[in-house]
Amino acid sequence: MKITTISCSEKSAGTVHSDLLIVCAAHDEKNKINLSVLGTDIINSFKLEADFKAEADEKLLVYTGSQGDIACSRVALVGLGNCSEIKENTVAADLYRRCGGNVAGICKEKKITHLSVEMPEYKGVDQQLFAKTFVEGLQLGLYTFDKYKKNDEKAYKGLKKLSLCAQGKTAALKKYVDEGMRAALAGCTARNMANEPGNGWTPGHFAQFARKLAKKSSAKCTILELSDMLELKMGGILAVNQGSHEEPKLVILDYKPKKYKETVMLVGKGLTFDSGGVSLKPAQGMMDMKYDMCGGAAVLSAMQALVQEDINVRVVCLVPSTDNMSGGGAVKPGDVITHYGGITSEIENTDAEGRLILADALAYGIATYSPDCVIDLATLTGAVVIALGHHNSGIMSNNDKLVQCLTDAGAFAGEPLWRLPLGTDYAKQIKSKVADIKNTGGRPGGSITAAEYLHKFVGDTPWAHIDIAGTAWDFTEKSYIPEGASGIGVRTLVECIRNWKNGKIRK
Ligand code: BES
Ligand code: MN
Ligand code: ZN
Repeated sequence: MKITTISCSEKSAGTVHSDLLIVCAAHDEKNKINLSVLGTDIINSFKLEADFKAEADEKLLVYTGSQGDIACSRVALVGLGNCSEIKENTVAADLYRRCGGNVAGICKEKKITHLSVEMPEYKGVDQQLFAKTFVEGLQLGLYTFDKYKKNDEKAYKGLKKLSLCAQGKTAALKKYVDEGMRAALAGCTARNMANEPGNGWTPGHFAQFARKLAKKSSAKCTILELSDMLELKMGGILAVNQGSHEEPKLVILDYKPKKYKETVMLVGKGLTFDSGGVSLKPAQGMMDMKYDMCGGAAVLSAMQALVQEDINVRVVCLVPSTDNMSGGGAVKPGDVITHYGGITSEIENTDAEGRLILADALAYGIATYSPDCVIDLATLTGAVVIALGHHNSGIMSNNDKLVQCLTDAGAFAGEPLWRLPLGTDYAKQIKSKVADIKNTGGRPGGSITAAEYLHKFVGDTPWAHIDIAGTAWDFTEKSYIPEGASGIGVRTLVECIRNWKNGKIRK
């Protein structure tokens, strides 16, 4: 639920009548608490010295009963730890974001409608960064997916009003609040798509979303239908779709600003349900494969934020979308297919379907839009979960500078990326005896051989592949990320493209 109104108030926080007031506190290297006048007042009048240490992620709810100078009857003291010690922006950003997420937790529990926040003014706290990332964490943390709970009358209706109190400084903060909100809402959009079950989010829904977004913005939407794919000979996506009752779509959004130098292409795996096909997955855990479209959700949701920003780069976004089913016409192990552009592939395992649909989209996108660089996001391999667990996404690339841009953006967004290598030795694993390549490379280095498959279709175009199979869901260590879909990748892409520097990748 979107925070309805956000006001940057000139009032002092104590005078605002709200349901909950947030007062932040830090401490120094000797653990001495650094607190605003208002906060000191509360600690002293309620004798809370022993109860609150201002550690990062600490929170203490106090019922003040609207006495003294405090108009609000409920106050939460929230810790920021030793702020002045923090040297990196990325660390501060995630601290503030988690703080927003913690506050969202209290809002949900107490069903807060109007929240006020005293903006912290402590050594080491960057107020603009705080405004951006606290609001981001708050909005992300307020997320719930309850659309299928039709009879829950007691459900929380969300935050209607947020008052940020920073006396004398409010005008400068608005831009940052907006940036945080746009990124967070895009993240929530991706979660909404991904949390839909397989029967609630089909390729047609991706198409519908893109058409709506194009209507509301200057972006152009093109949907390639089954007939177009037949004509264009997109053998990968057609093969995966063969066992399905649902038609495939290749959804394209093209955001082309009046003045631009470079084109960034985003590609996301939009597999709306992965049963494995004829190489059927085991029943246990198969349900999670409704999330196999998180890459597509991420790139389209990032577009939602980007089209609202004044960026000077063209962004073309492609989402190949189908489910992977085992109907009578399904593709079989041993079948040979021909991708868009002519490369042939032997299907060893129909469950390695993501690379098949991405290959067509990458080849077609590069041939059609000649991008300066390509970034793809996909829940591509179980192997990346074994390699990196649920705490880092894997990134594989033919371009060091692009990796740097994305890893920096990911670190700032709290969506860390870890690079895995590519190389001809890995590429050898996908050589086929009967076709140009085959779609599996065995268990060793499974994420890398999947990336090498995609590599064949991008050639020398600067390209990065981000495998989000471990982080698209079950990425729950942060207060602002709920169970279910995490919305991973959205904020990394928004941050990366927002800060795009022409000439940085290809020179
Ligand atoms: N969508 C899966 C990858 C996946 C697995 C994502 C687990 C998240 C959690 C993908 O289509 C797949 O099935 N990959 C196979 C490839 C194998 C057959 C070469 C895999 O990882 O097992
Ligand atoms: Mn699969
Ligand atoms: Zn899959």
